[in-house]
Amino acid sequence: MSDYLPTPGDKFSFGLWTVGWPARDPFGAATRPPLDPVETVHRLADLGAYGVSFHDDDLVPFGSDDGERAAVVSRFRKALDETGLVVPMVTTNLFTHPVFKDGAFTANDRAVRRYALRKVMRNLDLAAELGAETYVFWGGREGSEVDSAKDIRAALDRFREGLDVLASYVIDCEYGIRFALEPKPNEPRGDILLPTVGHALAFISTLEHEEMVGLNPEVGHEQMSNLNFVHAVAQTLWHGKLFHIDLNGQHGPKFDQDLVFGHGDLISAFGLVDLLEHGGPDGGPAYDGPRHFDYKPLRTEDIDGVWQSAAANMRTYLLLKERAAAFRSDPEVQEALAASGVPDLSTPTLAEGETFSSLVADKTAYEQFDADGAASRGCGFGRLDQLAIEHLLGAR
Ligand code: GCO
Ligand code: MN
Ligand code: MN
Repeated sequence: MSDYLPTPGDKFSFGLWTVGWPARDPFGAATRPPLDPVETVHRLADLGAYGVSFHDDDLVPFGSDDGERAAVVSRFRKALDETGLVVPMVTTNLFTHPVFKDGAFTANDRAVRRYALRKVMRNLDLAAELGAETYVFWGGREGSEVDSAKDIRAALDRFREGLDVLASYVIDCEYGIRFALEPKPNEPRGDILLPTVGHALAFISTLEHEEMVGLNPEVGHEQMSNLNFVHAVAQTLWHGKLFHIDLNGQHGPKFDQDLVFGHGDLISAFGLVDLLEHGGPDGGPAYDGPRHFDYKPLRTEDIDGVWQSAAANMRTYLLLKERAAAFRSDPEVQEALAASGVPDLSTPTLAEGETFSSLVADKTAYEQFDADGAASRGCGFGRLDQLAIEHLLGAR
């Protein structure tokens, strides 16, 4: 791995809309020409990626009839066959067309809600045809700017209804696809429903087919809320709900920057890769799905800069993976972790067979416990942080 060159075994994937973003923003026109999805497939494969994802409209222009759609799909499929690239995830554009200005599954207008469900069903057929295992739901327009304009409890009812209907469709068709909800606090709506990982996890537990619904957390989205993304992913794993992940970079609470992975909070990116690669049983990977980059090449870049930035995402991930492996295998780190009591947290607080009565009967737990003595011991966490920084900086 010394040259940090990605291979398909690393499971790196990209959305067509990432490298293909023509860099139109709310203040300015596009700075780059559109990319042909077929060219994107070839370029990503050349760079060492294994997968490509897309919104329906990224591949098949909005409003295409069945014939036009079939032609586009067959060209795309040919590129996949030629390169060996796979389509691990597919999603729906329920945000660009003005019809979705007040949401899709939760629009006040019932006809829009019915249209949105049909748009998803049509694209689920294509997702299944291309072998996708995950279908992402990012509800960018599901929200409001005006509290009195949206009945949030009714909106959550409709969101649940929509996902329940779509889950039964997938089950009935035997598509073998799982759903992954992607939280985001705001942008484009002033406030978006299911704004954080925590909100989304609570919502999933109310779904009819909750077992087939998990999350697609995105680095920048939790950080826009000033939340700790490593904690968010750890809790998602704890619930068995890390179905997919959107990797990128973000500098704290501001607009959604979608920077290259690691080009935002680098220490958090190190902690994330450490968790994904070493947070599983016996220090192995905690997640085996796609390492999916949902980023935007800077608006200042030309097309060469686009492909350089795509490569940069993967190279940065591999660098962090190597740094995390070095951190984990350093005997001094192992010793510092033990001295800080990190492994001890895995020991249940009550012994096997113990109940609250035996806890009460244990005088050493309370009556004889030396609270001041325990309080006076330092935790050594700062030393751990410095060891991580030194590994991250290549000083060890
Ligand atoms: C964003 C989102 C999107 C979604 C994509 C998949 O903030 O724009 O991250 O890029 O990931 O629409 O549903
Ligand atoms: Mn984003
Ligand atoms: Mn995303």
